Amino acid sequence: MHNNERGGMSKPKIVVTRRWPQEVEARLAEHFDAELNHDDVPLSEAELRDAFARADAVLPTVTDAIHDAVLDVEPLRARLIGNFGVGFNHIDLEAARAKGLLVTNTPEVLTEATADLAMALLLAAARRVGEGERHVRAGEWTGWRPTHMMGTQVSGKTLGLIGMGRIGRAVARRAHHGFGMRVLFYDPFPPPADVLEGLGAQHCASVEDVLRESDFVSLHCPASPENRHLMNTERLACMRAGAFLINTARGDIVDESALVEALASGGIAGAGLDVFEHEPRVSAGLLGADNVVLLPHLGSATVETRVAMGMRVLDNALAFFAGREPPDRVV
Ligand code: 8YV
Repeated sequence: MHNNERGGMSKPKIVVTRRWPQEVEARLAEHFDAELNHDDVPLSEAELRDAFARADAVLPTVTDAIHDAVLDVEPLRARLIGNFGVGFNHIDLEAARAKGLLVTNTPEVLTEATADLAMALLLAAARRVGEGERHVRAGEWTGWRPTHMMGTQVSGKTLGLIGMGRIGRAVARRAHHGFGMRVLFYDPFPPPADVLEGLGAQHCASVEDVLRESDFVSLHCPASPENRHLMNTERLACMRAGAFLINTARGDIVDESALVEALASGGIAGAGLDVFEHEPRVSAGLLGADNVVLLPHLGSATVETRVAMGMRVLDNALAFFAGREPPDRVV
């Protein structure tokens, strides 16, 4: 609670930049003076700046670019950025720190949903699920035949993971125990042996070592400046001609035009993509390619997970305004 001008108590003011699941919005409205976005139209840069000037907390998503100009408002009222999502590459952390803003995110609650979707993309790309569905819907199916739409076997193959954090490990568990896959990974900060126990995953010395050995490569690293275009022309060329690239992390980890080229030239067999370099714009070369499965950033999009993400933001904000350390502080 805050002291208002008349010496009474008032609820902290929060601005929620997009529409959230209804039950979370109801909880936010109970605890805060909450400005919700019923129309779900993204805020312009001017509206975001205004939110930071008027509210005690701003609760953004991946579609809000919180760069230094957005925070450069006088006077700045906001003290908390409660991000709805685990990734925070859309927030300039240095600028937030410099302005005395605390930033929180929503780890853990979306791990399983995102790992499920990575497996869905892997299976869909290997077994030509999107292509097959389009074929049936177009009325083109003339009947079963032994050589129709043959795909690539998944069970027993080698999966390479780039990044072995929570989501990478959840994918490893599914692949190893569910599909009998051999799992390789690269991570500059590999988890300790006890965390890896039971995953059947083997650490490689470099990204290239993983790429050369894998039938499927799935990206699970953060979108840090160092990881921008981690999958470039050279690295895509390290992949096997029959291999598939899966991306549920962030679009700019892959050089999208290099990927289009690799897919078109047969450098790799296919891809499954949930994220894109310039979302929501998708390269024409991907839209026109049959060997790619494309999804609109659905990694965490289950009712259960989106509610849990919202509740996690709520918990962070409640802790912050009660003068306690928020559980998921990033800055
Ligand atoms: C979210 C995500 O839906 O949490 C993340 O980092 O990529 C997605 O699961 C999105 O970022 C919400 O802001």
